[in-house]
Amino acid sequence: MTVTATSFGTLAGKRAIVTGAGGGIGRASALALAAEGAAVAAVDISADAAAETARQIAAAGGRAIAITADISDPTDCERVVRDTVKALGGLEVLFNNAGIIRRADAIGTTVEEWDRVMAVNVRSIFLMCKYAVPVMAAAGGGSIINTGSGWGLKGGGNALSYCASKGAVVNMTRALAIDHGPAGIRVNSVNPGDTDTGMLRSEAAQLGEDPAAFLADAADRPLRRMGKPEEIAAAVVWLASDAASFVTGAALVVDGGGIA
Ligand SMILES: NC(=O)c1ccc[n+]([C@@H]2O[C@H](COP(=O)([O-])OP(=O)(O)OC[C@H]3O[C@@H](n4cnc5c(N)ncnc54)[C@H](O)[C@@H]3O)[C@@H](O)[C@H]2O)c1
Repeated sequence: MTVTATSFGTLAGKRAIVTGAGGGIGRASALALAAEGAAVAAVDISADAAAETARQIAAAGGRAIAITADISDPTDCERVVRDTVKALGGLEVLFNNAGIIRRADAIGTTVEEWDRVMAVNVRSIFLMCKYAVPVMAAAGGGSIINTGSGWGLKGGGNALSYCASKGAVVNMTRALAIDHGPAGIRVNSVNPGDTDTGMLRSEAAQLGEDPAAFLADAADRPLRRMGKPEEIAAAVVWLASDAASFVTGAALVVDGGGIA
């Protein structure tokens, strides 16, 4: 793959799984990891979206496979790890990024919605780690990055299940770092502030708000704008790389100063 001003081949030889790789932050991260030399398994519940990410990586000269999976499902998670190792020959980086949001308070959230948000945002990380950690440990280590949120570190309105799930992501990241540090596995969370992806538009629709007004509100932070998916991806690349070799159990906030 062509080395550009922002790509230094820091992940050459590494194999990475990215969940939710068919959209916003996941796709940008899959492309950025590949641009740094990693071979990427692009995992998404949408077969077309995963395939498109793999296609874009291949078109840029990188190496990628697409895997269709629902990462809340244990059988799917086991298959994702198995197929990645089979196709790419190993696994050093796991980016647990897929997530969903339900904008509602306790009264407006159904039991089914609560369970789905917790299954996609939290149980998936447990499951992916359950199957990926033994592979990484056997090979001497690796880097796991989990997508939290500013709302994993502070509360937010009309997003009860999401706030609960992202708080869990931040703290399970610390627990995973403690458990698997001795095996050479670093585990960190990246915590974006409002980033320009399909998720923000879905939130505006769920709340019945004008999308333009919603996006303007999202830009109300010290840097006076929303984040770009590529800016979250840059933090993911760093956490995945050996440049972050002594960083584990951390909650890295990438939010233009939003929760500062
Ligand atoms: N966009 C933001 O402002 C923002 C802020 C903070 C945190 N986050 C977090 O970043 C992560 C990515 O969000 P995004 O904004 O890129 O969202 P997005 O909706 O653009 O992309 C999410 C991707 O995950 C996939 N996905 C959903 N459920 C899945 C499942 N069960 N199995 C496999 N794939 C599944 C979707 O198909 C989609 O391609 C999420 O965890 C989200 O909570 C986003």
